[in-house]
Amino acid sequence: MRRSLPALTALGMVFLGACGDSTVVPPMVDDTLPDLSAFITFDLDEPPEYETIEYPSHYTAAVLALDNTTAGNPITNEQATLGRVLFYDRGLSVNRTKACASCHDQSIGFTDADVKSVGFEGGTTQNHAMRLGNVRFYVGPEMFWDRRATSVEDQVLQPIQDPIEMGFDAAAGGLPALIARMEQTAYYPQLFEWAFGSEGITEDRMRRSLAQFVRTLVSTGSRFDTAFDAAGGMALLDDDGAIEAVDLPGFTAEENRGLQLFAGRDPVGVGCQECHLLPTMALVQDSRSIGLDIDETTEFKAPSLKNVAVTGPYMHDGRFSSLEQVMAHYNSGMQNSPALDDRLKDPETGEPLQFGLDADDLAALVAFMGTLTDDDFLTDERFSNPFVN
Ligand code: HEC
Ligand code: HEC
Repeated sequence: MRRSLPALTALGMVFLGACGDSTVVPPMVDDTLPDLSAFITFDLDEPPEYETIEYPSHYTAAVLALDNTTAGNPITNEQATLGRVLFYDRGLSVNRTKACASCHDQSIGFTDADVKSVGFEGGTTQNHAMRLGNVRFYVGPEMFWDRRATSVEDQVLQPIQDPIEMGFDAAAGGLPALIARMEQTAYYPQLFEWAFGSEGITEDRMRRSLAQFVRTLVSTGSRFDTAFDAAGGMALLDDDGAIEAVDLPGFTAEENRGLQLFAGRDPVGVGCQECHLLPTMALVQDSRSIGLDIDETTEFKAPSLKNVAVTGPYMHDGRFSSLEQVMAHYNSGMQNSPALDDRLKDPETGEPLQFGLDADDLAALVAFMGTLTDDDFLTDERFSNPFVN
């Protein structure tokens, strides 16, 4: 059914009057919705479904309670769709070279394979880019490796204003300069009205729609998810989130061994699940750091481990290029920094744990992390570039 937006025709006329002949005004379809098919690939009549997510049964009420969506910014199909357009638009950087998606590439889990990402003028970011799958299930809800953003909403406009990433900093006129640019495009005035029901491109609306799109990036379709669900799902976990000694169906012996090491009960498991929670693989809120540097005082967070095997490098500074190196760190390389989490310390000596796992066990942990790859997520059209070009 077509939604009627009578004000749009009038908006088109005002727009033409104000901007002269050089402005392209998209033709209207039945005087209701604008025809934006020259610019974007989705149908305004039937935007992709983002509001309702069909969660598998192992996403129980207790798992869904981790959702950091705020009552003030519920997801709607139209607003999340607008967020997706913003996410893929290079026009949101000063010289039109970088979109959010330039550093958050869907095919590799919405991260960047470079150690540090390259910004709009060739500068490099301070930290490695983060995967964005299951951001929604990080309870914190602080964002960035060092948790400096207070929420998804607080985070999403920062890259645009960052002097390295997208360049709309104060010297470039900030968000008002960007909004003035967007008002001259053939699609944003219409898209904002379509998404919010009234005219106006505002900072608040950009923030809300980008945050909604980031929260739609939910990964529940990995081989781990299917097997965990089939074997009993959350009923297999105890109060510490540790898993019973079960073999998941369809897993190799090595992958099952890896799962038991990652999340099994004592004495087999080494307790990775105490911080990287099953089944979202998002970090637990109260995690501190993992002893990467002896003088570390920052309490770093980690993105969800979903799709972690698709590409490195790893850690906030991208110091490890492979999961084998990550495992070597946990096995024998942790340093006793001020920020080291107690879960990674020997309770008697206070020294960092030495897991002392052999090569087969380390390989099994890496094999288990390979089961967290979610091909449906990496190719889901709803998360893909919506632009015609
Ligand atoms: C030039 C590369 C680059 C661009 C462009 C970029 N990002 Fe990022 N993103 C990063 C890096 C690097 C980090 C980690 C930064 C840090 O923690 O210091 C990050 C972190 C994030 C996080 C935090 C995730 C978490 O779990 O804490 C979110 C969310 C995010 N980006 C969304 C976006 C959005 C939305 C845009 C566009 C408005 C965007 N990014 C543009 C590189 C980029
Ligand atoms: C005390 C909580 C805690 C425990 C226990 C823990 N981790 Fe982590 N993990 C983290 C934090 C925090 C980071 C991010 C550290 C950083 O970049 O400074 C991280 C990072 C990682 C990364 C890299 C993620 C990325 O995107 O770069 C992998 C892989 C990983 N952990 C796997 C494991 C495995 C396997 C275990 C068990 C052997 C484990 N973790 C145990 C908290 C923990």
